[in-house]
Amino acid sequence: MNQIKLNNGVDIPVLGLGVFRSKDGEETIDAVKWALEAGYRHIDTAKVYGNEVSVGQGIKESGIDRKDIFITTKLWNDDIRSHRTLEAFNESLEKLDTDYVDLYLIHWPVDFRAEAYAEMEKLYEAGKIRAIGVSNFHKHHLQELEKTYHIVPAINQIESNPYFSNQELIDYCLEKGIAVEVWSPLGGLKGHDGILEDETIKKIAKAHDKTPAQVVIRWHLQRGVIVLPKSVHQSRINENLDVFNFKLTDEEMALMNGLNRNQRVGSDPDNFTF
Ligand code: A2P
Repeated sequence: MNQIKLNNGVDIPVLGLGVFRSKDGEETIDAVKWALEAGYRHIDTAKVYGNEVSVGQGIKESGIDRKDIFITTKLWNDDIRSHRTLEAFNESLEKLDTDYVDLYLIHWPVDFRAEAYAEMEKLYEAGKIRAIGVSNFHKHHLQELEKTYHIVPAINQIESNPYFSNQELIDYCLEKGIAVEVWSPLGGLKGHDGILEDETIKKIAKAHDKTPAQVVIRWHLQRGVIVLPKSVHQSRINENLDVFNFKLTDEEMALMNGLNRNQRVGSDPDNFTF
């Protein structure tokens, strides 16, 4: 699996399995096992997804060494608001059945986030987390955190798909040495009907004998971001990993970039209700 180096020297596989909306139990356990069997070495979950136990179980059942798998989970908003960073982190460890996580993220920029980040810095210093970062942070959230942090976030995980490229924020993060991960890279539930049916993407896919999903994932990778496609189907999990044997041309990249409509599928980090 191709990897890149985070700003603290830790390697991260550039493609990981997303499990948002994967049901706790067999559905997630199987998805994780199929992914690891196919060659994924990176699983992205969160406390609020409610499937950390199943992620841990899938990893265990895969028989693959824990240390060879990059596991991300996220600190939920209510825990930040109620000053429960340490407790929430330990609960996630227990659920995942592991004694460290590779990446721990502030899930959304809620009040008291600076305090939560300071707690995460302590956990990082204690060796319980290999890299710390944030998610759904706009530029202004990053600039504000910069005033109080001691450790530059390794990652900002944000929404991006061909209809919502989020390119300006991506460029800003990369300039700052903050790696970018993208969630709902295929456009999530809504994108499934739109993006994967897009005529431009279908045409590019045909030219490479690939699927639209593979073209979208490849576009993300060539932009230099880490991509986290979600699927609970074995054939799609395999398909989404089979993207390292072709390359989009500069012209195709430009066509893909041109599809942007600034159309989000998720909430705006400046205006959310959870
Ligand atoms: P499923 O789990 O039923 O396969 P996201 O953009 O959030 O990663 O979401 C991708 C959505 O598209 C999911 O609902 C997933 O559903 C579906 N999906 C994932 N991979 C593919 C694929 N290769 N082709 C078509 N649909 C896919």
